[in-house]
Amino acid sequence: MGLTVIVLAAGQGTRMRSDLPKVLQPLAGRPLLAHVLDKARLLSPDDIRVVYGYGGERVRKAFQAEDLSWYAQAEQLGTGHAVQQAIAGIPEDHLVMILCGDVPQISETSLQALRTAAADGMALLSARLEDPTGYGRVIRNAAGLVERVVEHNDAGADELKVNEINTGMMAIPAGRLTEWLSKLSNDNAQGEYYLTDVIAMAVADGVPVGVAQTRTAGEGLGVNDRRDLARAERGVQRDIAEALMVAGVTLADPARLDVRGRVRTGRDVYIDVNAVFEGEVVLGDRVRIGPNVVLRDASIGNDTHVHANSHIEKSRVGAGCQVGPFARFRPDAELADGAKVGNFVEIKKSRIGRGSKVNHLTYIGDSKIGSGVNVGCGTVTCNYDGANKHRTVIGDGAFIGSGVQLVAPVTVEAGAVIGAGSTITKTAPADQLTVARARQVTVKNWHRPVKDK
Ligand code: UD1
Ligand code: CA
Repeated sequence: MGLTVIVLAAGQGTRMRSDLPKVLQPLAGRPLLAHVLDKARLLSPDDIRVVYGYGGERVRKAFQAEDLSWYAQAEQLGTGHAVQQAIAGIPEDHLVMILCGDVPQISETSLQALRTAAADGMALLSARLEDPTGYGRVIRNAAGLVERVVEHNDAGADELKVNEINTGMMAIPAGRLTEWLSKLSNDNAQGEYYLTDVIAMAVADGVPVGVAQTRTAGEGLGVNDRRDLARAERGVQRDIAEALMVAGVTLADPARLDVRGRVRTGRDVYIDVNAVFEGEVVLGDRVRIGPNVVLRDASIGNDTHVHANSHIEKSRVGAGCQVGPFARFRPDAELADGAKVGNFVEIKKSRIGRGSKVNHLTYIGDSKIGSGVNVGCGTVTCNYDGANKHRTVIGDGAFIGSGVQLVAPVTVEAGAVIGAGSTITKTAPADQLTVARARQVTVKNWHRPVKDK
């Protein structure tokens, strides 16, 4: 049987109280909808159809993947109306699985169970919640068979006590679905066309209604307001931490790691508390990440230690390096193997060569530093003249004394030594000492000022 997935993503998400459409709200650094699409793809469907509406092109533009087709729902008249927008042209013999763009934690296991449960007719995916407030309730008859789903706002006192809820996900043969959708009415508390009404129609038509339950209650949770979003975030983060540990990573505390994107890890990686990883992060074998480290689109080579409170963005760090504590790498910093960058050092658009050291209180921007270079404390590459940026080049084995300003464009040749406190504006020749500072004088007969009487 062919499979078409329809993902409902047109709602505004009023309860988020946000200018951002709900399905674009970030969860683990990616839009809510991206998580649902990931799950849809695991089912290897013939087609994924996304119903969009609120936020319009903004939603559509956030997803460029070619395997998606888009169906506009101009007015959000309910979940049944939403499915109607995407139903045309689905082969009659396809099973249609309907997923909600706001239920991001659903697992592949539960979706496969839903698919299986629909084998003899249709099926819905339910969950048992301690607090079912707000959800549609699954109403069963005395024999335990599903009769219908009643929305929270339409439920009577007894129905409200039912804690088996509708996750909103269903699997229905396309032919039947088309027929039932055409019969929906909006005569209910919210004046909407409820998709859930098709369940009672199935029962009336003698079509068996199967029920699959989510593997865990948390999977079925919808994200309707910011509290739900925060709970979902914790859930997803816990799953990511579990997966990292299963892959061989030691986490000082799995509850204190946040991954907002994707992280790939080698063997025997250690991650201390409060690390935040964003975008694409790659950690080589035996990498150690200290506490409070932020990595955004960064790759860290084998055996490198990134010490506490360092911040690395769009940069590459080689193998066997030492970074931080309190180092900051802005985009396009590159450290060759064995380099050391210490505390309160900022590096931007620069390459630091093999085994070079920039240990304290320094700014390196738009520079190329060779191998075996020592950059003294408090060195500044003066890369900006107020209008343009200029480059600093430092050759292999050079030694830059403390408190040096290198006024770019400028070159320090290989093996050159720059005296502390120098302001270098011209090429410093290879293997020689260059000093550029006022000569020290001691003023005779000078007295400290005294306070007026
Ligand atoms: C829906 C279900 C409810 C279930 C709950 C699970 C219906 C009538 N109710 O309620 O039984 O317990 O989900 O989370 O189906 N959407 C559209 N177009 C619309 C309306 C909604 O695309 O016109 C989309 C939303 O973007 C969202 C999903 O459908 O992704 C669910 O809509 P929402 O308004 O959140 O429904 P609930 O009230 O949560
Ligand atoms: Ca919802």
